[in-house]
Amino acid sequence: MRPGGGRALRPLLLLVLLLVLRCGAVVNRSVSDVCATCHVHATCHQIEGKSVCICNYGFVGNGRTHCQDKDECQIGASKICGNYTLCHNTHGSFYCVCLDGYRASNNNKTFIPNDGTNCTDIDECEESGLCGRNARCVNTEGSYKCYCNDGYKLENGEHSFHPDGNVVSCKEIGCGSPPGMKHGYIVGNYSLLPGSVVHYECKEGFYSNEGKFSYCTGNETWEPATLSCKGVDCGVPPSVLNAHPAFLSGTTYGSEVTYGCAHGYFIASGNQTAVCNAKGEWDGADLVCKEIDCGKPLLIPHTEMIWYNSTNLWSRVYYQCKEGYYFDGDRNYSECTMDQSWENITYVCKEEELFSNLSIFNETCVKWQRKTGRLGVQEIYTFHILGQRWDEKTFSEDAVFNITTSEDNPKVCLDLNSGSNYVVNITTVSTTNITVSVTVAVQTKVKEPFNNVLIFNDTCLKWRRNVRGTDVEDKYLFHVQGQRWYQKEFFHEMTLNLTTYKQAPEVCFELQPGTNYSVNISMVALNFSLLVSMTTQITDPPFPDVKFVAVKGSAPLLRLRKAEDRNGPISLYQVIVLPLGLQNTFICDSFAAATFFSNTTDVKGYVAAEFQAKDVADNMSIALGDRHYYGKFYNAPLKLGEEYCVFLRIISEWNKVTTQSCAVWAQIKNLSPTLHYMTAVGLGSVAAVCLILFLSFSAARSYLHSTVHSPPAAVACEAVHLSATMDMAQTGITSSFLETENDSLL
Ligand SMILES: *[C@@H]1O[C@H](CO)[C@@H](O)[C@H](O)[C@H]1NC(C)=O
Ligand SMILES: *[C@@H]1O[C@H](CO)[C@@H](O)[C@H](O)[C@H]1NC(C)=O
Ligand SMILES: *[C@@H]1O[C@H](CO)[C@@H](O)[C@H](O)[C@H]1NC(C)=O
Ligand SMILES: *[C@@H]1O[C@H](CO)[C@@H](O)[C@H](O)[C@H]1NC(C)=O
Ligand SMILES: *[C@@H]1O[C@H](CO)[C@@H](O)[C@H](O)[C@H]1NC(C)=O
Ligand SMILES: *[C@@H]1O[C@H](CO)[C@@H](O)[C@H](O)[C@H]1NC(C)=O
Ligand SMILES: *[C@@H]1O[C@H](CO)[C@@H](O)[C@H](O)[C@H]1NC(C)=O
Ligand SMILES: *[C@@H]1O[C@H](CO)[C@@H](O)[C@H](O)[C@H]1NC(C)=O
Ligand SMILES: *[C@@H]1O[C@H](CO)[C@@H](O)[C@H](O)[C@H]1NC(C)=O
Ligand SMILES: *[C@@H]1O[C@H](CO)[C@@H](O)[C@H](O)[C@H]1NC(C)=O
Ligand SMILES: *[C@@H]1O[C@H](CO)[C@@H](O)[C@H](O)[C@H]1NC(C)=O
Ligand SMILES: *[C@@H]1O[C@H](CO)[C@@H](O)[C@H](O)[C@H]1NC(C)=O
Repeated sequence: MRPGGGRALRPLLLLVLLLVLRCGAVVNRSVSDVCATCHVHATCHQIEGKSVCICNYGFVGNGRTHCQDKDECQIGASKICGNYTLCHNTHGSFYCVCLDGYRASNNNKTFIPNDGTNCTDIDECEESGLCGRNARCVNTEGSYKCYCNDGYKLENGEHSFHPDGNVVSCKEIGCGSPPGMKHGYIVGNYSLLPGSVVHYECKEGFYSNEGKFSYCTGNETWEPATLSCKGVDCGVPPSVLNAHPAFLSGTTYGSEVTYGCAHGYFIASGNQTAVCNAKGEWDGADLVCKEIDCGKPLLIPHTEMIWYNSTNLWSRVYYQCKEGYYFDGDRNYSECTMDQSWENITYVCKEEELFSNLSIFNETCVKWQRKTGRLGVQEIYTFHILGQRWDEKTFSEDAVFNITTSEDNPKVCLDLNSGSNYVVNITTVSTTNITVSVTVAVQTKVKEPFNNVLIFNDTCLKWRRNVRGTDVEDKYLFHVQGQRWYQKEFFHEMTLNLTTYKQAPEVCFELQPGTNYSVNISMVALNFSLLVSMTTQITDPPFPDVKFVAVKGSAPLLRLRKAEDRNGPISLYQVIVLPLGLQNTFICDSFAAATFFSNTTDVKGYVAAEFQAKDVADNMSIALGDRHYYGKFYNAPLKLGEEYCVFLRIISEWNKVTTQSCAVWAQIKNLSPTLHYMTAVGLGSVAAVCLILFLSFSAARSYLHSTVHSPPAAVACEAVHLSATMDMAQTGITSSFLETENDSLL
């Protein structure tokens, strides 16, 4: 797209030549049919049965003689290619080219305008790249030209040129930029033209003495300067008295060195930092360090100083409390510090205390605090104990003893009796030789003076004393009261004194059997009392009060008298019938309560009747053999011809203990079938009768109590008048029961 203006007409001339050659070829031809006559740029078409020659696209004409190329460039009022274009017709077609200074909008050299491509003006600035550096582009009448800027020219010395795509640059006229200088700079103005001079100097911190100039020679080159800039070096920092370099960043220009004062010295004046200057010298090394001195230490009240007159850094002064004072502070020394003063310490010396914060604990123990500056020194404490019981004028204790201790918190437990008041006077001698004393009152509580009370042997008590001190006598008072549930009028009371040193005293009482007792044991001295309940076992009931009856041939009428609840409650009365022959073998407590119907009747006898004590009226008469049931027992008729022995048994039952007493009530011999006979005999005779005075047995059934009071059955023979027998006969009842029923009953 950069054709020269002169070359634009050449295609037109060529086109004219071609047209001349083609016309000649058509004329020289001979044609037979229509189709054969078609022009070389025409095609034979069949239209309505006729052959027609039609020119090809891009050609116009009759199709036979001539088909002429259509010159598109001539079509239309305005040019087909648009503004600022050149139109080129080709054989059967055409193309457009933008005029110089214009450019196709499709950025192509040639174009066909039917795609909307047109030619637009090219701006000068837009196209400056065409001319390379240091040149400017000028658009004149659709054409470009490049001009070198002022002071520039082409290699060949020209000042303007047409851009042709090759990189052509305008070069400055003269030597160009002078050469650079490391660590250096150019001083003043200079020209690039031959003969000019450039003056170099080194930057700050660099030095050089020679070759500071560069010259622009006639052949437009710089003759370089011989200058070479070297950095300055301050070298080792200078030493400062009583100080040392603590930090060094380097020794070149601008480097720093920082000094610190030596140990024990402080900064009195000057700067700590020196700087390497451009002249290669360390600037500002003017530090002054002086030795630390804290001066005389402070005096603290009640202390003595231990100090070695050194007042420099970290020197120490020790303090200690004067005699009679103890230390109560943080630390016992002070140090000379960096800030040239002795440390502030809270060193407190307090006056010695041998009894501080004395208190009583655990009833009989005392503790206190000993505050003294003297380490490990033993102190003797004298204890004077005076004790008295609050109630007893006679009792008093007075003891003195020493306790030696080096502890700061001594504890002393005292052996004190309970229920007493004590005054404890503790004294000791202080370092100042003054007796110091503390008095405390100790009141021991009244504990149970005794406990573990035990009942033994039914009527005895023993216990354990708790009061300490075996040399102390104790006085006990016993108040005994007994009652019986079964005997409202019964009341047994007694009092008793006991004075004993024993640790485990014992006492036995004379108590009634079958009785509930309450025993109040008191120690008046200690205002202490204790109640003990005791229950005594029942013993055998009293021997039955019976009138012995001996009869022959008849059954006697028996009279039952109530027995007293003397040794326990009476529970039952039993009438026992035995064969007379077994009388001597009868044992009161071993006789089972066999009924008449039991299979052993024949051998051992039976209970004919049983009465509850509450059902018994005094002097109640009992007819033997009346065939009634008494309790669960059958009062069977006696057999004729048999001999019997009748017992009365009284039974007492209480607290799971059963006791009994028996007595022979009657003997019956030769039971005759006729009442008359028997009565006659009963009335008429006085006989010697063998009487069993009593048969009393008691069984020991309790654990504690295993004595048998009664002897074995004793039998005594006496002459007895038979008045009793006659009484029974007079009633006349007896005979009616004497029937012969032997067989039916067994
Ligand atoms: C060509 O240029 C003339 C004058 O500048 C303008 O009036 C005309 O519209 C242009 N034609 C086209 C196709 O741009
Ligand atoms: C540029 O012109 C060439 C031939 O001259 C043609 O092949 C091409 O398609 C044109 N490019 C554009 C973008 O019109
Ligand atoms: C020329 O062509 C460009 C791109 O197709 C278009 O933006 C512009 O309007 C056209 N200029 C004229 C005068 O038609
Ligand atoms: C400390 O100094 C005092 C006077 O200031 C002097 O009497 C004493 O002897 C000195 N002690 C020592 C150990 O130097
Ligand atoms: C200072 O106290 C330390 C322990 O805290 C002790 O060992 C030292 O003897 C004391 N010095 C003096 C002078 O009292
Ligand atoms: C030490 O005590 C003195 C006097 O009480 C006071 O003036 C000073 O500031 C204290 N120094 C320090 C470091 O506490
Ligand atoms: C006194 O003793 C009590 C009990 O032992 C204790 O709590 C208290 O701190 C002590 N007081 C002093 C000042 O030591
Ligand atoms: C109090 O005394 C009892 C018996 O003497 C003892 O077991 C207990 O440890 C004591 N208590 C104290 C706090 O000392
Ligand atoms: C207790 O110690 C003091 C002082 O040492 C002494 O005089 C006194 O006799 C001692 N008393 C007893 C009972 O040991
Ligand atoms: C306690 O001891 C001090 C000093 O020995 C004495 O004055 C005081 O009377 C004593 N008190 C008693 C109650 O013993
Ligand atoms: C119980 O009493 C009996 C006799 O009265 C006696 O021998 C025995 O020692 C007593 N038991 C006790 C433990 O005292
Ligand atoms: C008596 O009778 C009881 C039961 O009724 C019986 O167990 C027992 O063996 C009998 N005894 C005799 C000696 O027949």
